[in-house]
Amino acid sequence: MRISVIGCGYLGAVHAAAMAKLGHDVVGIDVDENKVRQLQNSEAPFFEPGLPELLHEAQAAGSLTFSTDISHVEGSQVHFICVGTPQAKGEYAADLSYVEDAFFKLAKYLNPADVVVGKSTVPVGTAGRLAESLRSLAPEAELIWNPEFLREGHAVNDTLQPDRLVYGAVTSDEENEAVARLDEVYADALLRSVPRIVTDYATAELVKVSANSFLATKISFINAMAEVCEVAGADVKVLADAIGLDERIGRKFLNAGVGFGGGCLPKDIRGFMARAGQLGADEALTFLREVDNINMRRRSRLVELAREVLGGSLIGKRITMLGASFKPDSDDVRDSPALSVAAQLQLQGAAVTVTDPFAINNARKRFPELHYLESTQEALEGAELVVLVTEWAEYVNLDPVTVATKTAARIIIDGRNVLDSASWCDAGWKYRGMGRPALDGRNSQMMASL
Ligand code: UGA
Repeated sequence: MRISVIGCGYLGAVHAAAMAKLGHDVVGIDVDENKVRQLQNSEAPFFEPGLPELLHEAQAAGSLTFSTDISHVEGSQVHFICVGTPQAKGEYAADLSYVEDAFFKLAKYLNPADVVVGKSTVPVGTAGRLAESLRSLAPEAELIWNPEFLREGHAVNDTLQPDRLVYGAVTSDEENEAVARLDEVYADALLRSVPRIVTDYATAELVKVSANSFLATKISFINAMAEVCEVAGADVKVLADAIGLDERIGRKFLNAGVGFGGGCLPKDIRGFMARAGQLGADEALTFLREVDNINMRRRSRLVELAREVLGGSLIGKRITMLGASFKPDSDDVRDSPALSVAAQLQLQGAAVTVTDPFAINNARKRFPELHYLESTQEALEGAELVVLVTEWAEYVNLDPVTVATKTAARIIIDGRNVLDSASWCDAGWKYRGMGRPALDGRNSQMMASL
């Protein structure tokens, strides 16, 4: 199948490479010349495990090209729209200008029987509206809305081995040729019996935003429990383990800490609220406002915790932040809790040093006022407080005895509740998790003997 992918960001670049790996002939289009040049050289423009190898393999086989010239989509039979839908400036709603721009530019090059496939996350009603336009621009072409569920850091695997395929189509009957064509694209997954749900446009659009809203709610639920644990002297990590054993609840996405960030969950719940309001169903989603509030409170709580463990003042205190990206295995710093806490600590008088294995360049662009060091060991030098905010494996595996030889004090806040608190306490550290009792050498031994 000849395929075009419009938009080569976190979603599109991976999608293009993965489709080529599946045996299709793919052209990726992006307006950003630098990005296209990097992709042409098999370099990933962002950090995503496995992507450079995939790009290299597909380009060596001659099945993947990239261009800034949208006319190169001509000849492809299936066209994926993978551009971003960020939060619009000054409002909650999603900015659809990139989707519309891509769609109308693409429409000029469509041949009869081509299929346009939307993968971007859009407000419900968008696909119906675009399908209406398509009827006059390219009457024989058809639109399918096929939301993407990949997670950054696992994007290659999630794209090659999806857990479900959702098609929003104008008609779900078996005669739909566009559906049959998309089935050919995803033949590999369908052969492995990956569930495929064909539905109307609105349901497909809602599947995506409701999935992200559910995940955000689950994280904020456990973070709300963390708030209660903090005042009750309880341990949210043990609580999550215990409730997670109930299969109806499940342990995944119940990790309390500094909360969620990134380019998807925060803007998707806000865009969803805005869209429900436009449709007259704002009451249905008022709980998402609270989900957002709980999430934002975690960032303030971490700042307060830092002040508390430093004896009531942040002024002049040297703090090392382990992590800048919004999650490990990604260099994405969009709405990163790590950076927002770092910036707050700095604003309130602390001398903050941020380190991260891959996200420093992106972080520096967003927060040039912060001090960055690439080497973890150098960043730890002289720290009066260490804060783990992104659970990169290299930070989770740090040896507390070695770290203590670098820092000026032995105080650590585990903003993701991932460290082995007992070994840190045994090495003489004062350990604070989030939603967990304060621990030092003495009470850690007491807890262990209980
Ligand atoms: C999210 C969804 O998980 C994907 O299914 C979806 O396709 C994607 O958005 C999207 O809309 O494109 P992603 O943004 O890559 O994926 O990140 P997640 O793995 O969902 O993590 C989001 C945030 O939640 C991170 O900051 C993470 O640290 C935080 N998190 C996650 C927690 O604080 N606790 C948890 O238990 C889990």
